Amino acid sequence: MPKIGNILLPDFPLLLAPMEDVSDPPFRRLCKSHGADLMYSEFISSEGLIRDAMKSKQKLDIFDYERPVGIQIFGGDEEAMELSAKIVDTVQPDLIDINFGCPVKKVVCKGAGAGVLKDVDLMVRLTKAVIKGTNLPVTVKTRLGWDENSINIDEVAERLQDIGVQALTIHARTRAQMYKGHSDWSHIARVKNNPRISMPIFGNGDIDSPEKALEYKNKYGIDGIMIGRAAIGYPWIFNEIKHYFATGEKRSLPSMNDRIEAARNHLIWSMEWKGERLGIVEMRRHYTNYFKGIHGFKEYKQRLVTTDDHNSLMDVFKEISDVYANYIMEY
Ligand SMILES: Cc1cc2nc3c(=O)[nH]c(=O)nc-3n(C[C@H](O)[C@H](O)[C@H](O)COP(=O)(O)O)c2cc1C
Repeated sequence: MPKIGNILLPDFPLLLAPMEDVSDPPFRRLCKSHGADLMYSEFISSEGLIRDAMKSKQKLDIFDYERPVGIQIFGGDEEAMELSAKIVDTVQPDLIDINFGCPVKKVVCKGAGAGVLKDVDLMVRLTKAVIKGTNLPVTVKTRLGWDENSINIDEVAERLQDIGVQALTIHARTRAQMYKGHSDWSHIARVKNNPRISMPIFGNGDIDSPEKALEYKNKYGIDGIMIGRAAIGYPWIFNEIKHYFATGEKRSLPSMNDRIEAARNHLIWSMEWKGERLGIVEMRRHYTNYFKGIHGFKEYKQRLVTTDDHNSLMDVFKEISDVYANYIMEY
């Protein structure tokens, strides 16, 4: 069983990926209830944290029922990273994760995220600074390298482990690939098979079905899998994979009622956490994902994204439940 510091994880844990504007507490609650074993916050700017920026601070919110949970930070300045680790420490997540993989320009240009992939010495210094600022276990999430000619994940893994990093998640793409092209997990397998590496190695990139999860588990020998996009609007993915691992059989797929309940809970928890107005507005981008491919749903989706008070939204959900009571999902 993989261990991160004192956190004992189940055999072959399934991790929910940190995703900006997605992996907030309401979404994490949903994924937890559908089998996610370890979850992360959206990334938080270290500069934002030390400036006391509201948006960054709000991302520090964690709840006991979601443990084990990690807070993810990024930044390109050692002092800011150490200070922000101290701030994160005060809310006592189970671990602090550092993002060295973000390909987004605004992050890379600050010398943070995947920008650090070009400068392993800086990556090591930034990581040391975080470790200095906290007693919590520190983990890292990164990519294979800057581009296909500079894949340096082997060196990165060894150097990070040597300074005390306790687990590494590898997104099997380079920065240059952004989110496109083939994710090549053979590089992750090589890191995992390096006899010098003893920390858990988690694989990430394009896992979107129980079959693929099992194939990659067997083929690449990793300690667990992190799932991002496939969980958006589909939190069932975690338990579907677990069921498939345990029985070799596919679990019955979520019914229309399951989808309605998940979307409604997501909305209710968003309103509870963000306040009614913001919860309603920010939930709008999620409905399409929950109701992909449902016949005749366009009208209801339109109403869900234009209705702006709690009671009326609950009425729309009630109507959807009635109209689709006998709907058979076509998969
Ligand atoms: C909307 C979105 C936001 C993301 N935000 C973050 C983030 O805050 N931190 C991070 O390390 N990766 C972030 N990522 C990358 C994911 O964590 C993950 O590495 C990537 O999506 C590949 O995994 P997948 O194929 O399972 O989605 C984000 C990805 C998406 C799609």
